[in-house]
Amino acid sequence: MTTDKDLLDGQLEHWQRTFVANPEMYGPDPSEPGAYARDLFRREGMTDVLELGAGQGRDTLAFLRAGLNVTALDYASDALAGLERAAKASGHRAQLTAVAHDVHQPLPLPDASVDGVYSHMLFNMALTMSELDHLAAEVARVLRPGGLHVYTVRHTGDAHYGAGTAHGDDMHENGGFIVHFFDRALVDRLTPGCTLLDVTEFEEGGLPRRLWRITLRRSEAPQ
Ligand SMILES: C[S@@+](CC[C@H](N)C(=O)[O-])C[C@H]1O[C@@H](n2cnc3c(N)ncnc32)[C@H](O)[C@@H]1O
Repeated sequence: MTTDKDLLDGQLEHWQRTFVANPEMYGPDPSEPGAYARDLFRREGMTDVLELGAGQGRDTLAFLRAGLNVTALDYASDALAGLERAAKASGHRAQLTAVAHDVHQPLPLPDASVDGVYSHMLFNMALTMSELDHLAAEVARVLRPGGLHVYTVRHTGDAHYGAGTAHGDDMHENGGFIVHFFDRALVDRLTPGCTLLDVTEFEEGGLPRRLWRITLRRSEAPQ
């Protein structure tokens, strides 16, 4: 019998296969939210950034070129190997720490150890509500007080919302990819230890994907 856990775990294999078949899946240039986060992190004088679900690293490379030190996490190790090669080729290898890691597990970083956390379309992967609560708490744990969290998610206005196979918790599978579509209540819920600063709508790709870019600041005072 195929369980939900098998399906969710099968996503790793699907992403690995997809990245091997498409070595430049999202292209070499930074995404719109990646460019936004790069500029924001620089304005704030940041040094150390954590990126979740970095994939082939279109945004990671932009952060490295801007002089940031980046810990890039993804569970697709082939994509990270490609990112390491690209960072080396551009002369930025020393600023990059690439770690194969599944965000279902606690983040492999000490408390208050990074200035900024960034992810593009990682929170809307195959993560249940309780797994998202846990991940948001982990992000708050590793962010220093006053640090920033920028993340993006596809939302319930996306054309794929409600299409394909439903997996519960607003997760839907299209073309083999499971996406957790966010509503505004979920954005407001995932703010432990942080203040919500901004939610901006944008589109990406040909579908187009319809997304929110969310910016939060880690509270200065202990919660
Ligand atoms: C939609 S892609 C976005 C990649 C990259 N952020 C970009 O925009 O180019 C989502 C990424 O999240 C990774 N991912 C999905 N679930 C994950 C998990 N549980 N732990 C770590 N990485 C995960 C995938 O391997 C993939 O690289």
